[in-house]
Order: sequence, then structure tokens, then C-alpha cells
Amino acid sequence: MSQARDPGQNPPADARENAVGASMGEAYERFVEAGQGHVFRFWSSLSAEERDALRAQLESVDPARFVGILDRTRALAERELPDLEPAVVERHPARGGSQAGFDAAREAGEAELRAGRVAALVVAGGQGTRLGHPGPKGTFPIGPVGPRSLFELQASRIRGLERRHGRTVPWLVMTSPSTDAATRRFFEEHDHFGLGKGDVLFFSQGEIPCVDFEGRFLLAEPGRLATSPDGHGGVIGALARSGCLDALADRGITTLSYYQVDNPLLRIGDPVLIGFHVSANAEFTTKIVAKNDPAERVGSIARSEGRHLVIEYTEIREPHRSARDEDGELVHWAGGISAHVLDTGFLARAAANEAEWLPEHASAKKIPHVDDAGDPVVPDEPNGYKLERFVFDVLPHASRVSIVEALREEEYSPVKNALGGESPDTARAALSAHARRLLREAGIEEPPPGDWIELDPEWIDGAEDLRALGIRRYEDAPRSILLASGGTA
Ligand code: UTP
Repeated sequence: MSQARDPGQNPPADARENAVGASMGEAYERFVEAGQGHVFRFWSSLSAEERDALRAQLESVDPARFVGILDRTRALAERELPDLEPAVVERHPARGGSQAGFDAAREAGEAELRAGRVAALVVAGGQGTRLGHPGPKGTFPIGPVGPRSLFELQASRIRGLERRHGRTVPWLVMTSPSTDAATRRFFEEHDHFGLGKGDVLFFSQGEIPCVDFEGRFLLAEPGRLATSPDGHGGVIGALARSGCLDALADRGITTLSYYQVDNPLLRIGDPVLIGFHVSANAEFTTKIVAKNDPAERVGSIARSEGRHLVIEYTEIREPHRSARDEDGELVHWAGGISAHVLDTGFLARAAANEAEWLPEHASAKKIPHVDDAGDPVVPDEPNGYKLERFVFDVLPHASRVSIVEALREEEYSPVKNALGGESPDTARAALSAHARRLLREAGIEEPPPGDWIELDPEWIDGAEDLRALGIRRYEDAPRSILLASGGTA
């Protein structure tokens, strides 16, 4: 390989310009001017197809946007947050909140669902590196008893919403170029889990070049930039560019229930959350749980200079990070679980202001690339940055915000790692333990301790559903209450 490629590090300027400039035209100038001319260093050794592919890839990149990018990402990570204070939260009734307030919110949310104004939106474009599953994360089998995948569980919840409220709840599924084909295939193979095929709308987020520690684009191959998905914040531009926002407007949908693909406990389309959102006429509503400890890897919802924001756990500094009140509770206790309700008009505004509202954040990663000889390098240590946008960066721009507490044991158990904390084991145990609690609450005799329990969320979302379905013994509902012995839950 190294012999076949011309590293072209110092080609005579004229020759290089003639060779590359003639066929790249104005794109060549743009990259050179932005200090990224090295992306053409293998040009003379690329085949016609490789040149076409590189040309097409570079068309979608604005190199000027990357001038000074590392200074900006550093400034963002180190920004001061004046007057930092905790956000005001609608507390859960089990933790001191108003039951009447939650009941009223549920009614308002149910009315919104019955009016057909709600769609679900999952961001499923991540690379799932830590989980290491060979396929999109949503295809991971997570059911503690049945082999239900994350997507299947979510589809069941959406079918449940549709059945309860008598309206279609379209499901927007954001993929990325590396997960798109496999995700669509999975849905086809499972007949869209019984949902209307036309009501599942796929769209792909964009990709963004990876840079080295000097901010220079890395090449994954001599004729291809190394790229990664542009972060869950890519959802906003992608929703607009894909035409999904227009499609939602055509269907009369104004309210999106946004969530991440990897939290199987989450109540998608939660009427309570939607109800608080519509009652407050909010543009951005978010669900939080109480943080376990300051080091927990979730962002905190707070206010700075009168505006709401999410501070990443990596960003919040002392004394705020571990500050406690007179009762010993964390001051910044409200941990974001990336479950939001978003107003589509606000999203359209955010898309129009994407460059300003959604800055890139950088995280150091090991990025496979080619060296100057064109040979592949798989680094052992981080060698550059992946750049990502975070959806919650639009929060300070929302004119009205609502924040609602949920119970961790009911709604949050993400699947991030292959083993240990936040893994399939902990999520399955949480699903099973939650199912056991619902049975108990409904007065149903519990399966033997140690048995795994899995509920079908299409039918059972709370103890009241068990009562309404007239289920008195778990044996009465063998299809919606699955059991397996030998677990620990
Ligand atoms: P994470 O940040 O946990 O990343 O994504 P991940 O890709 O799932 O896993 P790692 O970090 O590579 O191990 C949180 C949510 O945001 C989505 C993911 O699919 C997940 O639902 N996401 C993340 C995107 O949709 N696009 C991205 O570019 C990044």
C-alpha cells in the first residue's frame, strides 16, 4: 500500500494545484484556504471512482466551519456559568409532589394524545461502542424473559398508546449512515412490529469529520475522511432537512416525545410529561430523576443567568458539583435522562439556528486513520477528537421550559456497557423488579422470588392496567406477563 500511494506531502505547489485543482475546482480552494489541503495528499494515486467518492464526500463538508474549532470546543467545555442555581422541578407525588397536579397533567396529556397531535421520536444513530453489540443498539435483545429487542419493547409501548387513545402515534426513528440500512432491515424483518409501515418514519442524521489534536481532518482511507455521527443534537437539522418536520405538520402533529434508544424502562409518550408540557405551553419539557451521587454520569438540569441548561457531569465544577443543602440533599440533584417533550415550532426555529444553537463538543477518541504513507493505523491511545452536537444545547433558547421528576426505579435504567453498571444485566433486573412492583401494587400474588418477570408494555403500563384488565393472578395473563425461573430479580 505504501508503495502504491503518493504521500504527496510536499508536491510542487503548481503541479499539485494543476492535478487536484483542475478536477476539484472551487472545493480545492475552500479546503486549502481552511488549512485542510492535506486531504488531497493522495489524490494523484486515487482511482477515478475513489476521486468521485472523495469529491462527493467533500461536497457535504464546509471546511471554513472547522477553522478554530478546537478553540471553540475548549471554550465551551471551560465556560463559566454565572449565577448557577438548581432548576424548579415538578416533584413526583411519591417524593413530595402534588398528586392532584400529576393527575391534572395526565388528563391534559391524554387529551393531547387523543387529539392525535403526538409523535414519538427515538435517536438511534449512536455507534454503541461500549455495548459492543454487532448491530444497531435498538436491535439488542433486552427482555428479561422473552427475546424482545429494545425496538420491539418501544413498539409495544407505542401500540399501547395508540390503543388507549384511539389515534396513530407516528414513530420517527433517527438512524445514522452506519446504522440506517440495518435498522430499516430489522423493522422490515419484524413487520414493523405491527405498527403501520407508513407511520414509522426513518431519517438519518449527518456525519461530521473527525480531527486530530491540531484540528486537521483525519483520513480513514486515502480517499475518504474519517467521520462519525454528528451527535444526538444532529437530530434537529436532520428532522428539518429530511422533510420530517413538514410531514409532521401535514399530519397536524405539534408535540414530540423524544427519547434515547437505550433506556427500556422509559415511558414513551408519557401522558403526564406531555400534560405538563402542554399546560405550561412549553417549548421544551424534560424528565429528570434524582441523581445518586455527584459523580453519576448524567447531566444536571440547572439555571444560569435565568436560562435553563443541562450541564454535563464532566462540566459541573466544585463547589456546585457536590454542594448539599441543610437536609444533606444534593443541590444539583436533578439528573437529566434525555427524555423530552418538544414543540415542533421550536424545533423548526432551532433548525434554522443550528450553527449557533448547537455548537460542536469534542471528545478525545482512538480514531483509525491512514498515515502519511497511506497505511492504516489503529491507535492504542486517543489520537484525535470526535465532534458531536448535544440536543439539550437548545434548552437555553426555549422561551418556556417545564421539568418533571420521575422515579428512577420506574423509568431509568440505560444500557450503555456490555458488563457491570448500566449494562443489559442491570436493565433486565430493573425491568423485572419494576414488573414485580406493579404486580404487588395490583394485589396480585407474586411469582416466586428469583423468577424473572416481563410485562408486555402494550397492555400493562401501571398497576391500574392490571386491575382494569381484570388480572387477578399472573397465570391469567400468560401473554402479557412472562415468567422465567432462575433469575435474581
Ligand atoms: P450515547 O452517547 O450513549 O452513545 O448515546 P452510544 O452511541 O449509544 O454509545 P457509545 O457512547 O458509542 O458507547 C445516547 C443516545 O443518543 C443516540 C444513541 O443512539 C443513544 O440513543 N445518539 C448518539 C445518536 O442518535 N447519534 C449520535 O451521534 C450519538
